[in-house]
Amino acid sequence: MDKLLKEAVRIAKLAGGKIKEMRDNNALTESLKDGVELVTNADLAAHHIIRAEITRLFPGHDILSEEDSIHAPHTFEDPIWIVDPIDGTVNYFNGHFMSAVSIAYADKCKTRVGVVYNPFLDELFYAAENSGAFLNGRQIRVKNVAALNQCLVATGFPYVRDSVPELTARLGRVLPHVRDIRRLGSAALDICWVACGRLQGYFEASLSVWDVAAGLLIAEEAGAATGNFTGAPSVISSDGLRCENLLVASPGVYGDLRRLLA
Ligand code: IPD
Ligand code: CA
Ligand code: CA
Repeated sequence: MDKLLKEAVRIAKLAGGKIKEMRDNNALTESLKDGVELVTNADLAAHHIIRAEITRLFPGHDILSEEDSIHAPHTFEDPIWIVDPIDGTVNYFNGHFMSAVSIAYADKCKTRVGVVYNPFLDELFYAAENSGAFLNGRQIRVKNVAALNQCLVATGFPYVRDSVPELTARLGRVLPHVRDIRRLGSAALDICWVACGRLQGYFEASLSVWDVAAGLLIAEEAGAATGNFTGAPSVISSDGLRCENLLVASPGVYGDLRRLLA
């Protein structure tokens, strides 16, 4: 486990350094994936660095990266690395500071290691199973809140905008009850920010497994409650690729938020 975590941290920092350097040097080019989703040459550069390092160190392990051309279904049974080379690409491309490299390792159907590194704030979130969650070496815990009106809650929206009425209706049910809402632009960081107490809740209906795999372990190790706000037993789809109706929150408000969202 130590080696997996140590290498995941090293690789996340390597890729994070690269994306920061490329932006600092104004070396970014953009294109569109599936006609709607922004992708930059830095997403691909980070993807290649991470893939090459994992393949070199762990040649028998599978890799599922957002920037692979094909995403095969998988079960998390055999060793697999789940990678989002840049989570928060729209922020990244616009010069914002909420973007991160996200790397998780799973086997025997459980996530064992999660690392989320934001090179712009030099913040490294990480966790290994049953070992607590950390931000730059200091252990983190969710903030203990008991009432919704004490909660700062984040959410996000998919690139495909065919569910706007549903999204706004859900937002409309939550907003009157909470302190405020944020749309920070990186699911991985949203989840880590619940873990370290900067947010008390985060929900998003339509994500991919690479957005959340590392963050969810970090949040759970920090004491967050996580689950599917519709009450379904899992947030991860049966093909292991999607994450649906995710709610991550401080345990004291998880139930109330879930009832508003369901
Ligand atoms: C996106 C971000 C965003 C979320 C989107 C994701 P990307 O990931 O996490 O916050 O709302 O659903 O797709 O495209 O920047 O890797
Ligand atoms: Ca992402
Ligand atoms: Ca991405």
